[in-house]
Amino acid sequence: MALEIRPTDATLGAVVRGVRLSSLDDDIFPDIERAWHDFAVLIFPDQHLSEAEQIDFSRRFGPLERSLTANNVGADPDIIVLSNVKEDGSLWPDESAHGLFLKGNNYWHTDSSYKRLPAKGSALAARIVPETDGETAFADMRAAYDALDPEMRTYLSDKIAVHSYAYSQGKVGGTNALNQAEWDALPPVRHPVIRRHPETGRPCLYIGRHASHLVGEDENESRRLLERLCAEACRPPRIYTHRWRVGDLVLWDNRCVLHRGLGHPGNQARHMTRTTIAGDGESNEWLLSA
Ligand code: OGA
Ligand code: MN
Repeated sequence: MALEIRPTDATLGAVVRGVRLSSLDDDIFPDIERAWHDFAVLIFPDQHLSEAEQIDFSRRFGPLERSLTANNVGADPDIIVLSNVKEDGSLWPDESAHGLFLKGNNYWHTDSSYKRLPAKGSALAARIVPETDGETAFADMRAAYDALDPEMRTYLSDKIAVHSYAYSQGKVGGTNALNQAEWDALPPVRHPVIRRHPETGRPCLYIGRHASHLVGEDENESRRLLERLCAEACRPPRIYTHRWRVGDLVLWDNRCVLHRGLGHPGNQARHMTRTTIAGDGESNEWLLSA
């Protein structure tokens, strides 16, 4: 099997074929990692990985981050289950606490930016897909930075955003998703709005739904600015939208990509498993000026 890497029409994303992730050759891994850095989102169709295989593949990129436990219906703490299917096969209503927790994913975000050390990457595997809709969209925050006008780049170069899960989940009404101890463990954190990617050196916008406002700026005004930046950043040609088929695995780089689910009819099952590659400790030192 020859490795084939086919870029999408967007500024990010490539479809990777000719490789079996369940038995990945050590010789091939550097090519995959390089493609990940180049394209930021890698789509691997038709992999049908078991959860253990998904974990093993993800660990090649670094140690995994564990889930916020109260939501996680799966047995393995390294696997985050994003699913509206209950154990008995019935579906969680959209308006249930679990449904609202899932709904939060439908707004542009980068995984766990509300943590002091946010995730480096995520891999999502499709196990049950709805007949209609249920796509995931990805937006390129390297290209979004490049598209900023020079005045805005200068303005943002030293800005720090407050990221808060209470803020972002509060907006979707999903605060019952966590218990009090878990909320207490997630105070607001600060991250630079522009960070230089440690592998590629490219400056990236680091924003999304968890970013509440800017430190030292008017809260409402800076919130509106962040919303405007996000809306402008997440536009073609910087968007790739993935239509899932069972067995697909998509791996993205949370350091330079925003993503969101597009939603699907509540009476259809969708069951996805995510592995999350932990940040490597450099995240808060990625100030552009550093
Ligand atoms: C995620 C996520 C969106 C989706 O897995 O982190 O945000 O479409 N998923 O399931
Ligand atoms: Mn996510």
